[in-house]
Amino acid sequence: MLLPLIWSLLSVATLLLLFLFYWHGNHWRRRGLKGPFGWPLVGNMVNFALARRSYGEVYEKIYRQNPTLKYVAFYRLFNEPAILVRDQEILRQILVGNSFVDCADNVVNVDHHRDVLASHNPFIANGERWRIFRADLVSLFTPSRVRQTLPHITKACQLLREQTSAENFEAKDLATRYTLQVIASVVFGLDANCLGGQKVDKTGSQSRWLEWLAPLFQPTVWSLPETMALLHSPRLGRLIGHRYVPESLQNWFRELVAARSHGDNLLQWLSESKRTLEKDELAGHATTLLLEGYETSSMLLAFALYELAINEDIQKQLQIELDKVAFNHDGGLLDQVALGKLRYTEATLLETLRIHPAMQALQKRCTKSFAIPAQKSGWKGEFEVQMGTVLVVPVQAIHLDPEFYPQPNQFQPERFLNQIQMGCKFLAFGAGPRMCPGMRLGLLQTKAALATLLQDHRVLVANQDQKRLQISPLTFLTASRRGIWLRFEKRTRD
Ligand code: HEM
Repeated sequence: MLLPLIWSLLSVATLLLLFLFYWHGNHWRRRGLKGPFGWPLVGNMVNFALARRSYGEVYEKIYRQNPTLKYVAFYRLFNEPAILVRDQEILRQILVGNSFVDCADNVVNVDHHRDVLASHNPFIANGERWRIFRADLVSLFTPSRVRQTLPHITKACQLLREQTSAENFEAKDLATRYTLQVIASVVFGLDANCLGGQKVDKTGSQSRWLEWLAPLFQPTVWSLPETMALLHSPRLGRLIGHRYVPESLQNWFRELVAARSHGDNLLQWLSESKRTLEKDELAGHATTLLLEGYETSSMLLAFALYELAINEDIQKQLQIELDKVAFNHDGGLLDQVALGKLRYTEATLLETLRIHPAMQALQKRCTKSFAIPAQKSGWKGEFEVQMGTVLVVPVQAIHLDPEFYPQPNQFQPERFLNQIQMGCKFLAFGAGPRMCPGMRLGLLQTKAALATLLQDHRVLVANQDQKRLQISPLTFLTASRRGIWLRFEKRTRD
C-alpha cells in the first residue's frame, strides 16, 4: 500500500522537477528570443564550471557562434538568464549613452558586512555610494596629480634595473614586485621592500607586501569557487565564507593607513580633499588604490614582456624608439617628457591589453527596464530588457573579432599608433562613466618599467615550451596557468 504511494509521489516530484528545468531553460524562448537551452546549474557555461575554459573564453565562443545577432540570449552559471551584447551601437547605449543609468551596476558579489573595506571600492559599490566614492578617487588621477607620482615610479625603476640578471625569471613575479613597490610608495609613501634583495622588514619577513598581496589574485585550488561566488552567486559566497579582501589584510590596511607618511602620496591628497572622510572610508580607498593599482598593471607588464620575447621584430622596433628618445634626453627615459614620447611603447601596452585584457568581460545588472533594438539586423521593433537581467560585455571576444582587428591573434602595436576614436571596440579599461579612473597611472608605471628593463637588455623566452602561453580558467582577473618564464640578455647595439 505504502510503496505505490511513494512511487506515485516520486513520479510526480520528478515530473515537476523536469517541468521546472524545462521552464527555466526556455526562459528566453518564452520571451521571443532565439538562443540555446539553459541547463540546470551550469546554464551554457559547463566548460567554465568544469575549469576547462575561462569565463572570457566561454563568452568568446558564444559571441563567435552568433555572427548575425546583435545580442545573444543565453544562460550564465546557475542557469541565470543573461544577454551577451555583440552590437557596437547597443554597447555604446549601455556603457556610455542613455541606458547607462539603467544598468550601471557591476555584477560583483561582495558582502558589505564581511568585506567592509572592499565595499568602498567604486567597482563594487552601486548607486549613490558609487557616485561618492568614485568622485573621491577621480580627483587623484588628473594629469597633474599623476605627474606628481613620477618620483615614486622612478625610484622603483632604479631598483628594477638591478633585477636583470641572466637567470631565468618568472615575469609575473618580477612585475608584481615592481608594481607593489610603486603602489606602496604612491599610495602610502612607504618602502615595501619588494625589490631590495634579501633585506628584511621590521616584522622579520622579507616583505609582508609580497607575502600577503602577491598571491591574492593567483590561481589556487580555491580560485574557481571564489570566482564563481564573485561573479555568479552571493549564496555560494556566503557558503564558502568568501572575502574579496581577507580579514587579516583588512586589519593590516587599517594599521598602514594609521601609520602612513604625510608626504606627497595619494592618501595624503585624499585626506586633504573637500569631503571629510571617515576612518573606514579612508582605509577603504587605500584598499581600492592598492588592489586595483598593482595587479592589473603587473599583469600587463608580464604579458607585454612575454609578447615582446616571442615577437623579436617588435621588440627591436620598441628598442629603436627607446634609443632615439634617450639620445634626445641625455640618455634618460624616466622624465615626463621622454615618457610622453614613447608612443610605440605605449601602443605595445595597448596591444598587449587587447590580446590579454585584465577583465575578459564586464557584467552589468539592469536596475530599471529599458528597450534595445530587435535582436537581428533588419528586424523591426524593440526588446525590453527587464530589471535584474545581466548584460555581458564580452571584452575578449570583441578584442579578437577580425572585423575590428584583422588577423586578431597577431601582435601588432601599429594598430594603436594612430587610433583616435576606438568607440566600444577597445574595452580594456571599460568605457563611459564607469571607465577605469587609474588608467593613466597604470600605463605610466608599466611604460616606465618596460623602458627601464629593455633599454639595455633583450627579453627572451626561457625555453621553447614557454612560447605557448596558457590562460588560467580559474581566476577573475586574467592570469597565466603556469607562470611566464623568461630571461634577459645584455643588448648589443649594432
Ligand atoms: C593597466 C592597468 C589597469 C587596467 C587594465 C584596468 C582595468 C580596469 C577595468 C576593465 C575596470 C572596469 C571598468 C568598468 O566597470 O566598466 C576598472 C575599474 C577601476 N579601476 Fe582600473 N585598471 C588598471 C589600473 C588601475 C589603477 C592603477 C587604479 C588605481 C590605482 C585603478 C582603479 C580602478 C577603479 C577605482 C575602478 C572602478 C571604477 C568604477 O567602477 O567607477 N585601475 N579598471
